[in-house]
Amino acid sequence: MAILVTGGAGFIGSNFVRHWLQAHPHDAIVVVDSLTYAGNRSSLPEEGIVFVKGDIRDTALIGDLLRSYAVETLVHFAAESHVDRSIHSPETFLETNVLGTLRLLEATRDYVSSTRTTPFRFHHVSTDEVYGSLDPNDSPFVETSPYAPNSPYAASKAASDHLVRAWHHTYGLPVTITNCSNNYGPTHFPEKLIPLMLVNILHGHPLPVYGDGLNIRDWLYVADHCEGIDLAINKGKVGEVYNLGGNSEATNLQIIHMLCKRVATEFANDPSLSTRFPAYREASDPARLITFVADRPGHDRRYAINAAKAESELGYRPKETLESGLNKTVRWYLDNEVWWRSVMDGSYREWVSVNYDER
Ligand code: NAD
Ligand code: DAU
Repeated sequence: MAILVTGGAGFIGSNFVRHWLQAHPHDAIVVVDSLTYAGNRSSLPEEGIVFVKGDIRDTALIGDLLRSYAVETLVHFAAESHVDRSIHSPETFLETNVLGTLRLLEATRDYVSSTRTTPFRFHHVSTDEVYGSLDPNDSPFVETSPYAPNSPYAASKAASDHLVRAWHHTYGLPVTITNCSNNYGPTHFPEKLIPLMLVNILHGHPLPVYGDGLNIRDWLYVADHCEGIDLAINKGKVGEVYNLGGNSEATNLQIIHMLCKRVATEFANDPSLSTRFPAYREASDPARLITFVADRPGHDRRYAINAAKAESELGYRPKETLESGLNKTVRWYLDNEVWWRSVMDGSYREWVSVNYDER
């Protein structure tokens, strides 16, 4: 079986490729990724996959890959994924997330209609942000919750979900969709809350908290998300949507305090860390680095997922608790300094000054 993974050099895509290599060792894995600032070849295994640098909007390239490898499963991760960036530059989000998904669907439709005998699945990876924001006492999102996207990013993902749905209903394309909560874990780009805070803690830099820090997210360890996508591909019904969450709601401040505590434990257990990160020692108590900054415009207050459908129909159940997942994540960042230093290049530093100096 050949699987085509779009956006496989990004955070979740690269974890998914590692998962698939291990879980389905006989499959051919082809990754297509345009390597934006968020995509890194070094996040992927060196061997055992075919890597193609290319854009999902390039219909001819995608058609070529589908035919050359006789692809039976396409998993679509490629996207612009950072809410703050979507507030600064919404157009890129529409181009990649909406036009890119449209072109991918069209290339796939053409391929599937010309190779009728091949069983095929188009799996679309989406987000809980399409459902909007919850109040503290609201029930978590279910698959039938109304769409109410609030940021340009969420609106572009909502549009892409609608396109995938329509290509199934109108053209019979065999699709599944998963809408997932906030992921965290290895190879998470340090512009998102958890890796940004970790890197800043290690450098003794301020920890910028938007608003009052009481916004809530439902955190899901990335390996559990990858397992959920695998289940949706292999056990999910064509045309269905499955919500995937982590059963781990926490405020941003709670997450930051958990990270500070875990990093302190690692430093206490491993004296070599103080030599590698002298600024951490100098800062003494990293929680004192918490700095309240201006809020994100349109900041969603709370996300939470009800994953009962995926649990009962697919057997989905996340393995990590928030504590065990964060412990693994902290350890990964301590062990992979070369990775995070290499991705924090000039364009990253430029983004930090655009986003945080204005606040
Ligand atoms: P990411 O930003 O880390 O990675 C996106 C990848 O897509 C990068 O490798 C980038 O180079 C590639 N890409 C961007 N534009 C492309 C194009 N035009 N053609 C080809 N490749 C392109 O994102 P992520 O956090 O890994 O998210 C992956 C998917 O999961 C996205 O669709 C996102 O909306 C969704 N999602 C993410 C989360 C989360 O918490 N990170 C949660 C739910 C859903
Ligand atoms: O819910 C799923 C979504 O989760 C995905 O679809 C997105 O691709 C992903 O980026 C993520 O979106 P969030 O906006 O929730 O993630 P982010 O890490 O950017 O922010 C998490 C929370 O932390 C949010 O309430 C904003 C806050 N925050 C973030 C940053 C970067 C801060 O307080 N300070 C910061 O510096």
